Amino acid sequence: MGRKLLLENINVPGINTFEVYRQKGGYRAVEKALKSMSPEDVVEEVKKSGLRGRGGAGFPTGMKWSFLAKPEGKPRYLVCNGDESEPGTFKDRYLMTYIPHLLIEGMIVSSYALGANTSYIYVRGEMMPQIRILEKAIAEAKNAGLLGKNILGSGYDLELYVQPGGGAYICGEETALIESLEGKRGNPRIKPPFPAISGLYNCPTVVNNVESIAATVPIINDGADEYAKMGIGRSTGTKLISASGNLNKPGVYEIELGVSVEEFIYSDEYCGGIANGKRMKAVVAGGSSVPILPANLILKTANGENRLITYESLADGGFATGTMLGSGGFVVFDEDQCIVRNTWNYSRFYHHESCGQCSPCREGTGWMEKVLHRLEYGHGKLSDIDLLVDVSKKIEGNTICPLGDAAAWPVASAIRHFRDEFEWHVTHPDEAMQRNYGLAHYADPLPKPEGVTAN
Ligand SMILES: Cc1cc2nc3c(=O)[nH]c(=O)nc-3n(C[C@H](O)[C@H](O)[C@H](O)COP(=O)(O)O)c2cc1C
Ligand code: SF4
Repeated sequence: MGRKLLLENINVPGINTFEVYRQKGGYRAVEKALKSMSPEDVVEEVKKSGLRGRGGAGFPTGMKWSFLAKPEGKPRYLVCNGDESEPGTFKDRYLMTYIPHLLIEGMIVSSYALGANTSYIYVRGEMMPQIRILEKAIAEAKNAGLLGKNILGSGYDLELYVQPGGGAYICGEETALIESLEGKRGNPRIKPPFPAISGLYNCPTVVNNVESIAATVPIINDGADEYAKMGIGRSTGTKLISASGNLNKPGVYEIELGVSVEEFIYSDEYCGGIANGKRMKAVVAGGSSVPILPANLILKTANGENRLITYESLADGGFATGTMLGSGGFVVFDEDQCIVRNTWNYSRFYHHESCGQCSPCREGTGWMEKVLHRLEYGHGKLSDIDLLVDVSKKIEGNTICPLGDAAAWPVASAIRHFRDEFEWHVTHPDEAMQRNYGLAHYADPLPKPEGVTAN
């Protein structure tokens, strides 16, 4: 069994309550940080741990914290991003539901490190049960003197609030989230200025993912060196993976970074293989925004090495043959799934969720949805396939926020790797309405890289 840092006690009855969480050693990190470490020590420890943001971009958390401006007389804010609306990603909801005090503890430690006296947890509006759970956990922590004035006699004050989200995927983008938290429509801001300089109420602000904040607890408890011993290279520690699709055992798993994709999908410790004895056709490894890969390229890199669940290995080969770890939303497709239909489905989502501020995203996502719809329903032309590539290129890199890229990449990658399936939808429209294209060659072993012999 792999070592767990966040979900170690997840099956302990009552771990969602303050008493049980405390009995299991909870809030030790708050005691240690507030009683024996300076805020700078905590920042340094998180830096040393190598923790990278678990919200999608993988930016080093300690480095992000060290960019926070500290002007005299201005408050600083920590905002936890619990919007989690990316299709295929549901790990933050799991953590908030079953072990809410881990997040509250992480918020206290992180707010202390940043010198924030008011912090927020922004939770997707539809997650009302989680909002209630967190509010209860905050009240329990406050009753125990772990929030409010002069926490544990340290002189440090912190008020923590839960804010229901505005009900849109775009509210997960950090500047849209800040706008929404200020009570406005959740439109992303033009950067710079970055939130570290001018964020919530124009004050210096750090926005961090739920899992990133929770990970500060084991880092402070056990030390950065212990944390950094786990994982491989610049992918340290553990990662929560949301596994869904045609798997025998979908769910949320905590893995040590560096587990191979093959072990994760096929071993009984994790997903237990593809359901119903089918074969795997494709995987979206990091939530709907990252490039989709066929079975052969998700299991092995183009160089024939085992693909590992790390930031680097998943990205090996760039977008030509690789993808991204993103938010760790593993969506697995079996041989019966239609890539054209799935791509259309994702593009419907992005079109619906575009805030409409920039023309390439507002118009381009609409065009991609429309063209994919006609390909899926048998009215497409072969030229539509290149038209989609062209539209995706016009969106990518030309928008205010990364939602544009997130909409473009799934379409571009589906065509890059599954072009023959798109073409078949055009050349065999009636058949495509009756049956799926199947596995085709997508799981075939990759040709051996040049210079490698059989021995
Ligand atoms: C459209 C869009 C939606 C996003 N949704 C989320 C989200 O739900 N949760 C999250 O943590 N980050 C989300 N992000 C990333 C955030 O902008 C930000 O990078 C992240 O919260 C930073 O936290 P981290 O450094 O701990 O990863 C989203 C980004 C985009 C462009
Ligand atoms: S890229 Fe899309 S979602 Fe982001 S600001 Fe522009 S229109 Fe809005």
